[in-house]
Amino acid sequence: MTTTQPPQPQPQPDPQSESEPQAQPDPSQSDPQQSESQAQAQPESSRSEARSEGGLGSLVGGGGPNEAGYRSFVLGEFTFSRDDYFVYVGWPTGSHVASADAFLKALQRDVAWEFFYGIVNFDGVIGTVNHYGTVDLFAGRYNDAWRKAELDHLQNFPTPQIRATFAAMLDDWTNHGFDPFASPDETGSAFGPKHGHNTPAVTRRRVTATRMVGLHGDEPLRSDATGHRVNRQFTDVAQDEPLVEAEAGFEDQVHAFNLFGYLSRSDVTWNPSVVSVCRHSLYCPTTEEYILPIIHGNDRVEWFLQLSDTIYWDVEDRDSGAVRSKVTMHPGDVAAMPADIRHQGYAPKRAMLLVWENADPDLPHLIATGKLPTNPIDI
Ligand code: PHB
Ligand code: FE
Repeated sequence: MTTTQPPQPQPQPDPQSESEPQAQPDPSQSDPQQSESQAQAQPESSRSEARSEGGLGSLVGGGGPNEAGYRSFVLGEFTFSRDDYFVYVGWPTGSHVASADAFLKALQRDVAWEFFYGIVNFDGVIGTVNHYGTVDLFAGRYNDAWRKAELDHLQNFPTPQIRATFAAMLDDWTNHGFDPFASPDETGSAFGPKHGHNTPAVTRRRVTATRMVGLHGDEPLRSDATGHRVNRQFTDVAQDEPLVEAEAGFEDQVHAFNLFGYLSRSDVTWNPSVVSVCRHSLYCPTTEEYILPIIHGNDRVEWFLQLSDTIYWDVEDRDSGAVRSKVTMHPGDVAAMPADIRHQGYAPKRAMLLVWENADPDLPHLIATGKLPTNPIDI
């Protein structure tokens, strides 16, 4: 493996970046806040040895859009470009091609989730590892064949730097009418030459409650009035809210809401939002349809509680990708996903899933050093 550390020198300001997407809070709520001021995407124009022509080597010099209208990006020793159908990633020892829609859906989640917990594999080759303050960008690192050939590559970046580059790439490469968070049936196409933007979609704010959704001063409930209509596949979900009769003086401490009703109004897929917090215990329910656009490599245990419909999970060894199990979850099923796996879910119909996360920042280290087991219970 080739590894480059520490991070590259400060990148150049990007003159073409029109909007700086809103920074999202870290899902663990433990990520030290970083200054965004020095974090800018590095345009292709700053790279002197830019390659030319299409396909895997497509990096258009001069900083302008390429033939298809898309800008190219450089992050350390990695290069990124796209055309009508594909994204091309290059690094000193290799290159990779991915479908533009799959890449954008993964990129969208990596950006919105502030690099999530552990590893976000965009596919079997490209991905990121969150070190909560810095992020590794890798190619082939968790792929046996690339590793054995010693052609994999990894480079570490301060979180604001990789976040800003990824956010600028996501904004430039997402066309009008395509929403990377939407189900395939509810969005337009990612493909074709560049046409417009969808900045409101790619910068949408992630729901992260401080205590619980619906509490005074916390994340609001969803309704027609807030622009959250009941999803086409959840029209049978009851919309009544529980009656809470709190003792005088406790009105701000006793609370309940209709979680099924709340989820039925989600306009995104595969996007856990934090709806309740008890110290490090986060309830992160989500509605799922089609395929989870990332393969998530855990750095801690995650519990899944299937609230409705069915999800199929492919569970693999986190580091090699070797198959470990297939899990089919029906309503009421509970699964504990171990800390040393990666997984990807498939939902044939829109499904409600409760992801229960433990955001304790000490967990990754305790598990990696063997002080805590990779599975929460022995049966
Ligand atoms: C996960 O990796 O555990 C995960 C990610 C997104 C979801 C559900 C589960 O929507
Ligand atoms: Fe996961």
